[in-house]
Amino acid sequence: MNQNSSAAVMTEQQVYAARVAALTAKLYSEPPKACVITFGCQQNVSDSERLKGMLAQMGYRLTDDWRNAQLILFNTCAVREHAEDRVYGNIGRTKAVKRQNPNAIVGVCGCMAQRESVAEKIRRSYPYVDMVFGTQVQYRLPEFVYRRLSGGERVFERALENGEIPEDVPILRDGTLKGWLPIMYGCNNFCTYCIVPYARGRERSREPEHIIAEAKEMIAAGYRDITLLGQNVNSYGKGAAHGLDFAGLLRQLNALEGDFVIRFMTSHPKDCTKELIDTIRDCEKVSHHLHLPFQSGSDRILRRMNRQYDRAKYLELIAYAKEQIPDVSLTSDVIVGFPGETYEDFCETLSLVKEVRFASLFTFIYSPREGTPAAMMDDPVTREEKGVWFDELLRVQEQIAAEDEKRFSGRTYRVLCEGKGSRDGFLSGRTNGTAVIEFPGEASLIGEFARVQVLSTEGGLKGVILS
Ligand code: SAH
Ligand code: SF4
Ligand code: F3S
Repeated sequence: MNQNSSAAVMTEQQVYAARVAALTAKLYSEPPKACVITFGCQQNVSDSERLKGMLAQMGYRLTDDWRNAQLILFNTCAVREHAEDRVYGNIGRTKAVKRQNPNAIVGVCGCMAQRESVAEKIRRSYPYVDMVFGTQVQYRLPEFVYRRLSGGERVFERALENGEIPEDVPILRDGTLKGWLPIMYGCNNFCTYCIVPYARGRERSREPEHIIAEAKEMIAAGYRDITLLGQNVNSYGKGAAHGLDFAGLLRQLNALEGDFVIRFMTSHPKDCTKELIDTIRDCEKVSHHLHLPFQSGSDRILRRMNRQYDRAKYLELIAYAKEQIPDVSLTSDVIVGFPGETYEDFCETLSLVKEVRFASLFTFIYSPREGTPAAMMDDPVTREEKGVWFDELLRVQEQIAAEDEKRFSGRTYRVLCEGKGSRDGFLSGRTNGTAVIEFPGEASLIGEFARVQVLSTEGGLKGVILS
């Protein structure tokens, strides 16, 4: 899809949106309501903002109450089995809505919908689901709703086009100060445990001018905290004619006028460079937070995971980041109990955690995903035993976080006043990482940056605004 054809595609969808509005005007005496229920990662949250934008364009009012909605859309996640089970449970509950209003529309999209086995299961066992569509055809939502509302067959669409990204999809953002800005979609890394490359297709980067334009719009609309999204932001722009890499993109965004902070996720250690760390150090608007998932501390397991870096390279990057950015906040993802992992391998994960001292960790017990290479590997360790290891990791991390939190005391951070705190007269914001801090302040400061000094760390960070 080149830019002209992208514009033509979006015009076509606008025509469908207008047709949907005309149909629902006949069906309902007041504007119909739509509810989008989102599972999974920030990428899905961002996609849902675009789905909501299209629904608003079709004349739907958005609601959080699915029981009173005329259209319910599940934006799903397939990354672990638990995530999938929750979705099936929720879909089942919409049967009652359809019984009350046969014109109601129920849709399932997102990463689960991209899987053939899921689409088949819904086709057979959930006859009241009207639409199942994959991640790369979401921009065609108006067409799908129109087809179904006008009496067409149930919609099953899950082509992976892997082509250019349709721009100009309308967006209805959830927040007013903090917003998501996708810079790329898909993943080429095929870590052996992971479903994402199958669910999202090949890596595709947005053109810099579209990203810059969206950032400018967000800043003009009052957004002060912008998180750039991608499965592996460090490979932004690879192979593109414009030649801009992620560090270059960060520098361009940093140069935009306005008072705002830029965050990003996720960085893959294999593509994380010292240049990127230097860029974070040098760009005053880029948050001193690096989310760098290591997954395992054992080289043997990292090889079997196809992560394409080793423990030494990971630790070298971390050492460089700490040296260049002394107040850097480090966070990471870890998998416990990958097939074939022994307690000795797990101890290497523990020792890495102790060495790095992350501010926080996202920890997962390995979950086999059908169709991935790891799902075929021997996995002799029981779930119970993995649970014991997992608890051990949590205890170690909790102790590290508690010890390190004390070191926040006395430090000063530039904090965005994000909203009211948990106590009257207090505001809430975040330090450079993900730690929440509360401090006395007027509600009129919400949306402004303030210099906040940490005074106490007992029961959460408390501070005071320095004048
Ligand atoms: N692109 C990101 C991660 C996206 S998925 C990256 O490479 O860092 C988010 C996290 O879910 C992963 O980092 C991993 O820790 C976890 N995860 C992915 N697949 C998993 C599986 N099959 N079982 C358990 N955890 C998994
Ligand atoms: Fe999954 Fe690996 Fe891609 Fe991350 S980099 S999304 S873990 S395949
Ligand atoms: Fe889940 Fe898809 Fe994100 S599988 S973690 S919603 S990319």
